[in-house]
Amino acid sequence: MANTEAAATGTRPSLAPARRDFLYIGTGAFAAVATAAAIWPFVDQMEPDASTLAAGAPLEVDLSSVAPGQMITVRWRGAPIFIMNRTDRLLATLKEPQLLQHLSDPGSEIVQQPAYAKNWSRSVDPKYGVYVGICTHLGCIPQFYPNPSRSEPAANWPGGLFCPCHGSKYDLAGRVFRGVPAPYNLPVPPYTLEGAKLRVGANPPGQNFEMTSVVQM
Ligand code: FES
Repeated sequence: MANTEAAATGTRPSLAPARRDFLYIGTGAFAAVATAAAIWPFVDQMEPDASTLAAGAPLEVDLSSVAPGQMITVRWRGAPIFIMNRTDRLLATLKEPQLLQHLSDPGSEIVQQPAYAKNWSRSVDPKYGVYVGICTHLGCIPQFYPNPSRSEPAANWPGGLFCPCHGSKYDLAGRVFRGVPAPYNLPVPPYTLEGAKLRVGANPPGQNFEMTSVVQM
């Protein structure tokens, strides 16, 4: 698997434009199998043409089909991009002092996101979280656990993203917990959001954030 290879070799996607970009949809572990048959028509419908990708154009994603509480994954410049539709209940957890005290960089002081996503939800619109789905430890792909049990995949963990390779934990805004191998929050790619129309790789007017600006992919 790609994530295993990345961890073994220490390589990470460059996020340079590439023809092999494509769209796929993933979900939290709870829904991956159940929705597999239903999602591929959606994937085919949204796959951009190769010339567009080769030119490094932004990737457009219609989020109207993303259910509340669900996470999908698209691929942009060879990297998985996590897109979460966060409910009010999930969003409320991001401000809880019990959570914040366990985060390594709760205020996103380290440049792992554009300035327009340096806020409590690390997003343009709190409802939708958009993150590069590559663990900042050795490059595995974390898994989505919006509602974990008390013991799985980690004890007394409120949920978010869990990296199975070495146990790094992130919250639902991609903020990394203290005391885990991963050193940084998940990067936020440049993007715009107008209603349910997401464009990954584009910046809002007046902004020029590039992935080369982040401390670590
Ligand atoms: S790659 Fe080591 S914890 Fe994620």
